[in-house]
Amino acid sequence: MNKVLVIHGPNLGLLGSRQPEIYGHFTLDEINGRLRERANDLGVELEDFQSDHEGQIVEKIGQTDAQFIVINPAAYTHTSVAIADALAARDIPAIEVHLSNIYKREEFRHKSMVSPYVLGQITGLGEDSYVLALEAAVRILKRKTS
Ligand code: DQA
Repeated sequence: MNKVLVIHGPNLGLLGSRQPEIYGHFTLDEINGRLRERANDLGVELEDFQSDHEGQIVEKIGQTDAQFIVINPAAYTHTSVAIADALAARDIPAIEVHLSNIYKREEFRHKSMVSPYVLGQITGLGEDSYVLALEAAVRILKRKTS
């Protein structure tokens, strides 16, 4: 069975109470639960991982045996050469997601360090950004194996 790894970056563990007007009212557990249900329906294994630490995210990307990565690098999106390099180092297709529309916000959020190393980006659709990324991942994996 194909495995999709969903990575949540720093401060996403605070979802639910963190600036709900920007990030919504769902907790990270609720988002992961919704993703798990969808993954079950679609017949893929889902692993979720949250860390506030750049190095732990780099290690996770370096060590994973997943066939696909969905990643919200959160603030590291805009700063992390290390996470960009980790994605570039692995031959694992990935989609970058954001809850908020990073292009509608402060200028410093308009630049993503990881975008050159992912297939595409889904930004601004709240928790649906993750669900749509998971659905796209499954389509892409099916196309690969058929
Ligand atoms: C975010 C957007 C980032 O700019 C921010 O630092 C986050 C969350 C989002 O999902 O909208 O922590 O990645």
